[in-house]
Order: sequence, then C-alpha cells, then structure tokens
Amino acid sequence: MASSSSLFKQLGLTGAGSPLSGRHLLLILLGAGFLAFTVFVVHPNEFRIQSFFAGSCGRPSAEAVAAASPGKAGSVPRATATEAAQAPAPAPDDDGDVRVLIGIQTLPAKYERRHLLRTVYSLQVREHPSLAGRVDVRFVFCNVTSPDDAVFVALEIMRYGDIIVLDCAENMDNGKTYTFFSTVARAFNATRYDYVMKADDDTYLRLPALAASLRGAAREDAYFGLQMPCDRENFYPFPPFMSGMGYALSWDLVAWVAASDLARREQDGPEDMWTGRWFNLAGKAKNRYDQAPRMYNYKGASPDSCFRHGFVPDTIAVHMLKDDARWAETLAYFNATAGLPLSGQIYHLPPPAGSRP
Ligand SMILES: *[C@@H]1O[C@H](CO)[C@@H](O)[C@H](O)[C@H]1NC(C)=O
Ligand SMILES: *[C@@H]1O[C@H](CO)[C@@H](O)[C@H](O)[C@H]1NC(C)=O
Ligand SMILES: *[C@@H]1O[C@H](CO)[C@@H](O)[C@H](O)[C@H]1NC(C)=O
Repeated sequence: MASSSSLFKQLGLTGAGSPLSGRHLLLILLGAGFLAFTVFVVHPNEFRIQSFFAGSCGRPSAEAVAAASPGKAGSVPRATATEAAQAPAPAPDDDGDVRVLIGIQTLPAKYERRHLLRTVYSLQVREHPSLAGRVDVRFVFCNVTSPDDAVFVALEIMRYGDIIVLDCAENMDNGKTYTFFSTVARAFNATRYDYVMKADDDTYLRLPALAASLRGAAREDAYFGLQMPCDRENFYPFPPFMSGMGYALSWDLVAWVAASDLARREQDGPEDMWTGRWFNLAGKAKNRYDQAPRMYNYKGASPDSCFRHGFVPDTIAVHMLKDDARWAETLAYFNATAGLPLSGQIYHLPPPAGSRP
C-alpha cells in the first residue's frame, strides 16, 4: 500500500482501518472546500467525516451497523448513482468456468509478502482443483530500479512465472492501475480472461468464494467489488466506485480502458476512485456488483462501519492486513491451516488457533 501523504501525516491521522490513502483525503478535503477544511483541522470533533479517518469516535451509527450485518446489505440505502446489481447466489464449487486474472499490486522488495500470498493461494487452489488454470494470481509492479532486486525478481520469474513488471515508474495513484489494465489488455488478448481483478497486497482473497460470485455475474460491462460510498458518511457524496482493496472488471471493460482516451488522460488520482470515474463519465459498467458485506476491512479495535466489521464465514476478501499478526489471525479464522498433517514426529507445532480443536 502507498505511504500516506505529508498532509495526511500532518493531520495526525493514522490510516489504520481506513481504506483511504493520503490522496483520497486530499481530494475529499478539496471537494469539501476550504471552510470544511478549516472546521476539520480546528474542530475535528464537529466534522462528521472525521469519524471515518480516526476510526475511534463514538458508537457506529445504526445505519453503519446495519450495513455491516451479513445479509442486510440490500436493506440499506446505498449512496449510488447506479443501482448496484445483486449477484445471484452461486452454487458452491461450481465455479470452474470462470477465468480470472488477479493482479496483486505490490513492490519489488516485498518478497516476504509474495511468499505468504503464493503459499496461501496455491493451497486454496490445491483444495479447490477446479480453480487451477482458471484463477491466475499475478504480482504486479512497475520498473525494478534496484540492481539487487532485479536479480531476485528474475529468479522469482524463472521459478514461479507469476510476476508482471509494468513499464512505469513505481507509484500508487499516478497511473499504475491504468498501465496494468492496458498492458493486460494487450498481453493477454489471446487468453481473454472473463475478468481482470486489481487487488492490494494487504488483501486476503478467498478464491473459491470470489470465483463462485463472479460466476453469477454478467460477463460484459461488469464492475465487481466493495462499492463506495457505502453510506452517507463514508465517501458520500462522491460518485460510486469500487474500493481499491480488490475490484474486478469484465474483459470488455479492460479492453475499453486500454483503448479509451478518457482513461489515458485521467490517470492521475486515487486509483480506485478514478477507475470508477472513467466508467461513470463514459456511461460504462452498467452491471455493478457490490459485495458488501462479504468484502470488508479488518476490524481490529475499530468500530464497525459499512466497510469494516468482524470476520464472516462467507467472506470474499478482507483488507488492511498490514502486519503478520493480522494475517495470522485471519488465516486461522478461515481454517487455512486445517489441513496440517498431524505428525508429532516432525511437525512439532502447537495446534494452530482456529483450526481443529
Ligand atoms: C522502464 O524500464 C524500461 C527498460 O529498462 C525502460 O525502457 C522504460 O523507459 C522504463 N519506464 C519508465 C516509465 O521508467
Ligand atoms: C485484441 O485482438 C483483436 C483481434 O485480434 C484486435 O482487434 C484488438 O485491437 C486487440 N486488442 C488489444 C488491446 O491489443
Ligand atoms: C473452521 O473450522 C471449524 C471447525 O471445523 C468450523 O466450525 C468453522 O465453521 C470453520 N470456519 C470457516 C470460516 O469455515
């Protein structure tokens, strides 16, 4: 994930539990105008949006709690210009026919995170063999500038073949996402995935749930993820977009991005908001699939909101897994280690939390 901007830091706001980058904040502040900015800085307690960033003020509103409750998403009025379509309930394990390319945006030096994600996703595929060769996970970054990283990344490419190095200078919100989609449109034009997903490297995806949900979605003009604004406090009234934690586009939209003058011109901004903006301006992505409450931020000690709550069994994605402790807790909850062979001889491990009793 991107580091926060200096403005973000000057305001003393930690990003923990918030899907916002410093650029989001800057944009919101500009949008709210100078008066709101003054109120925000001088009297933060009187500015409602502050609760979103600080994640610590008071009780969550009834609306936010309702939005966070499984099965209640449809009952909350969503602040959207386009009605979010509801994906039909998919048949579990019947997801073999959907082809998805998942590009996890990361940085060349984040070897440990890649190692963890490779392990986690390859085990998911091993447990659900129908995903093999259909859900492809790739790691995506811009030009490798360190000569040492160039050697190590070359080894990874030779060994795993799961890295995409884009022709761009490393950045989060200055066109990496545009470069990703337009590169994929050209490089995989023959493969023709049904969907291409952009995901963050602090997002835990449950590939079987993702594939099953995509299977029930339209194959064209489809935009799938956690939709923002998710209530009248969070991102409201900005036009709808899918959170950067992970969103999928149908292949025709990927090809459209690659060919679009609008997308090429308008690359410079918070990547998730800007992707939504391209589609909003161009009248594209008529089929929108809001996956709340199955995609959400890790809760930790923060209050519930429409994008953050505790783990739920039918999760598609958990975001904001910023450190090892959060990953371990998440993997334990979802029984990632339940298949551990029981041999006291050579696996002298304590029983993993959350797995078999
Ligand atoms: C990325 O690296 C390639 C190969 O070294 C170079 O041709 C290209 O100009 C670089 N692009 C950027 C945006 O730095
Ligand atoms: C993909 O291939 C088709 C036909 O082969 C071609 O018309 C189209 O321009 C290609 N798209 C991209 C983005 O390269
Ligand atoms: C994890 O395994 C336990 C024990 O089998 C089960 O009760 C629980 O529902 C599983 N959790 C998830 C998220 O599948």
